[in-house]
Amino acid sequence: MNNAPALVVALDFPEAAPALALASRLQGVVPWVKVGLELYLSAGQDLLARLKDMGFLVFLDLKFMDIPNTVQAATAQATRMGADMLTIHALGGRAMCEASAAGRDQALAPGQTPPCILGVTLLTSLGPKDLAWNPAATDDELRDLTVHLARSAQNWKLDGVVCSGREVRVIRQACGASFQLLTPGIRLPDADSGDQSRVCTPAQAARDGSNYLVVGRPITKSDNPVQAARNYLKTIT
Ligand code: C5P
Repeated sequence: MNNAPALVVALDFPEAAPALALASRLQGVVPWVKVGLELYLSAGQDLLARLKDMGFLVFLDLKFMDIPNTVQAATAQATRMGADMLTIHALGGRAMCEASAAGRDQALAPGQTPPCILGVTLLTSLGPKDLAWNPAATDDELRDLTVHLARSAQNWKLDGVVCSGREVRVIRQACGASFQLLTPGIRLPDADSGDQSRVCTPAQAARDGSNYLVVGRPITKSDNPVQAARNYLKTIT
């Protein structure tokens, strides 16, 4: 891959004030911020509008999974709110994924760039023993299932998938150059991995072909978040 991945800072805060305080320090430093379930449930649509006004591209990580009609409507709402990227579960199946893409397309304002819809394949918190339908699955089988889901997501009109650093290379090979890959669990070699067990360095994820790297606590909990963000940027550009 020739293009450097974009850095996405996960604003994992319980309310708007600290999220906006950090965002104002990161203006002009990082292009993307992520709003997840906790912050969205606390601060919602207003916060999204504020972040957009500050010039950020917003990744709305709410991982929709419901009947196709509901996910279509939810994706349409996220599109109207100006989300630039959002997540749904690929395990929701073809009809749900295609409905999400249709909801996005029908809600686009004139001239609006379509938000990128990413599928979550298997949550990286799941191990082989968690597959209820095959408790004897091996790590290889789990990886094969993840690749199968990524290929399915691509056939079902999704723009890309969320994947761990371990899967970037194999999904890139399976799905081609234009499929978007977003990788959380990113750590510089000397950083504390926290509760993430399958971490990957930004340089490795970039080399393997990830398009977006999500970093949370190493930046949000740093004494100098701007310098911390710059340290990550330095290794990927
Ligand atoms: O603080 P840290 O860098 O570990 O934050 C990673 C962010 O990426 C969090 O917002 C977390 O919800 C998200 N994430 C993840 N692993 C996944 C999917 C999302 O860590 N498989």
